[in-house]
Amino acid sequence: MADMRENSLFLLKAQATYQKAFIEAVAELQALEHDRYYVEQNLDIEQLKQKRFFKDYLKKIKQQESGSNLPICRVPQTVYWLMEKQADGQLIWIGRVAIRHQLNENLRRIGGHIGYVIRPSARHQGYGCQLLDLTLEKICQGQPKIDTEQALLTCDETNLASKKIIEKNGGIFSSSSEQEAPLPRKLLYWVPYT
Ligand SMILES: CC(C)(COP(=O)(O)OP(=O)(O)OC[C@H]1O[C@@H](n2cnc3c(N)ncnc32)[C@H](O)[C@@H]1OP(=O)(O)O)[C@@H](O)C(=O)NCCC(=O)NCCS
Repeated sequence: MADMRENSLFLLKAQATYQKAFIEAVAELQALEHDRYYVEQNLDIEQLKQKRFFKDYLKKIKQQESGSNLPICRVPQTVYWLMEKQADGQLIWIGRVAIRHQLNENLRRIGGHIGYVIRPSARHQGYGCQLLDLTLEKICQGQPKIDTEQALLTCDETNLASKKIIEKNGGIFSSSSEQEAPLPRKLLYWVPYT
């Protein structure tokens, strides 16, 4: 069941009903070549338009959640789409979050528990902050349950928007780690979710 709010912004598990809305947003994301954070960058839009392929894509997301057929070095993760209901009832795809159920060595140093993206046309309007807020609420409800009492969030030290999102949601700076050159340092924060 969707988590409806006054402003009609909510998290939803990926589903075929919103295939078109998703594809529109992926096209927008792929047009921004300088971003390097999101998995949607590698999706083939023409394939996504095919029902069978899209079904397979959704199946992979489900498998990632249950932990079946996971590639080595991957942990189970839950993916939600951030959707907004318009006045005319239409749902717009605003963003995506992936919540890793547990940390491995790489996630502890670089990736953290949570990765998110907001579509370019929806940026600078507070959606990123709201996305993390809704995500922490889900974790608090055990959807999914994660392996530590606070969530580990990370961002490049140059990603000022993400840094603000984390800090505004109660993130407490913990440390920073080096990434392979020429990438900037990663900042690590613990964020309470209870
Ligand atoms: C990072 C990202 C999620 C931010 O989403 P957003 O919806 O624009 O964020 P918000 O509108 O909630 O803005 C959060 C804060 O950052 C500020 N901000 C937004 N873009 C900024 C930028 N380019 N530089 C500096 N500050 C910025 C906002 O002003 C806001 O601060 P304020 O509340 O004090 O005004 C979005 O840019 C994105 O999807 N980027 C690519 C993926 C990514 O970086 N993911 C995070 C990986 S750690």
